[in-house]
Amino acid sequence: MNWELIKELEDKYFAPVYQKFPIAIVRGFGATVWDINGKEYVDCMGGYGVALVGHCNPKVVEAIKKQAERLITCHGSLYNDTRATLLEKLIKIAPKSLDKVYLANSGAEAVECALKLARKYTGKPEIIAMTGSFHGKTLGALSTTWNPKYREAYSNLLTHVRFAPFGKLDKVEELISNDTAAIIVEPIQGESGIHVAPNGFLKGLREICDRKNILLIIDEIQTGFGRTGKMWCAQHWNVEPDIMCVAKGIGGGFPIGATLAKSEIMSIFKPGDHTSTFGGNPLACAAASAAIDYLLENNLIENAAKMGSIFKSGLEGLAKKHKIVREVRGLGLMLGLESRFDIRSILLNGIRDGVLLLYSGRNILRFLPPLVIKEEQIKFTLDVLDRLLSEEEAIRESHNT
Ligand SMILES: Cc1ncc(COP(=O)(O)O)c(C=O)c1O
Repeated sequence: MNWELIKELEDKYFAPVYQKFPIAIVRGFGATVWDINGKEYVDCMGGYGVALVGHCNPKVVEAIKKQAERLITCHGSLYNDTRATLLEKLIKIAPKSLDKVYLANSGAEAVECALKLARKYTGKPEIIAMTGSFHGKTLGALSTTWNPKYREAYSNLLTHVRFAPFGKLDKVEELISNDTAAIIVEPIQGESGIHVAPNGFLKGLREICDRKNILLIIDEIQTGFGRTGKMWCAQHWNVEPDIMCVAKGIGGGFPIGATLAKSEIMSIFKPGDHTSTFGGNPLACAAASAAIDYLLENNLIENAAKMGSIFKSGLEGLAKKHKIVREVRGLGLMLGLESRFDIRSILLNGIRDGVLLLYSGRNILRFLPPLVIKEEQIKFTLDVLDRLLSEEEAIRESHNT
């Protein structure tokens, strides 16, 4: 198939829900991807953070192949060795107090489970989410997602959701009522522009939840699994949730989501309460087990911290040099560069120059590369960005003269 035909078929048949870029990616390895014409790119988009252990990670590929030849599907009502193995691995890497897992197929599903669990366990309806939050687009998860752009066409979302300003403990506390079941929060807000929780915020939420007897749900879907230089991002502040949502990179690229909770909380679910036909399927479990092993055996969390700090200081250098850069933010390999202007042309010219970039709002570049990214790939990306920012500045100056 050639580029023109791929584009024609996708444009004709694919639901028009994605903002498309003019490129067809057909192959990947590590932090590199190739398009249909064989052109190579450094992948700083990482499938929105999914390609965490690298594209086509050999260990993950091998595990999927082996499992596919043995058993692809096995409903959760039957026992399965591959699922049992993954559950044990997940609990080993989870925050200490979380010892039960619900397996789903995506991030939004992991959030749906967390919301239902919190409501059933507490017997209360109300959830407090944060301004700027993103927790997914299914109706329940969407109810806790802030951006009106995603919500406005869907009236009557969950009614008992209130939004507190991200980072403002006193405002969160003001919203708590006798009906509050839980607070849901991302340690770093990815979708709204890489906003790191201010120091003391997560600790303060933990303290409020303990004092008021409500549950703390931490959404580690984008931040978790080593992305920020710790296994879980909330560990930067030594905070443990009551319920934690994970997805994205945990399957090594294969779709999987999980909700982890304390057994006391999870045991409120009874058989039939919340299930999914594909949840815990052996193929996803094999991929996730291999991804966990690879992450640990290859010290990718340390690499995320090390490469992240090289990447961040490079971006800070660009911020000093280019006036159109307002700020650089983030932790580990979850970084953002806020521009003073729309960045769409930078994204398109990045494709021209061999780097796949990702946006986060109109004017923010978000970097979620695989944790296996090499220093020379970061340097290449920084050189490309330097050039793109100069081009952008030149265009703006010529418009002003
Ligand atoms: C923090 C967070 N929560 C939830 C989701 C939803 O995950 P999914 O797209 O797999 O449903 C995302 C996806 O970007 C996310 O970043």
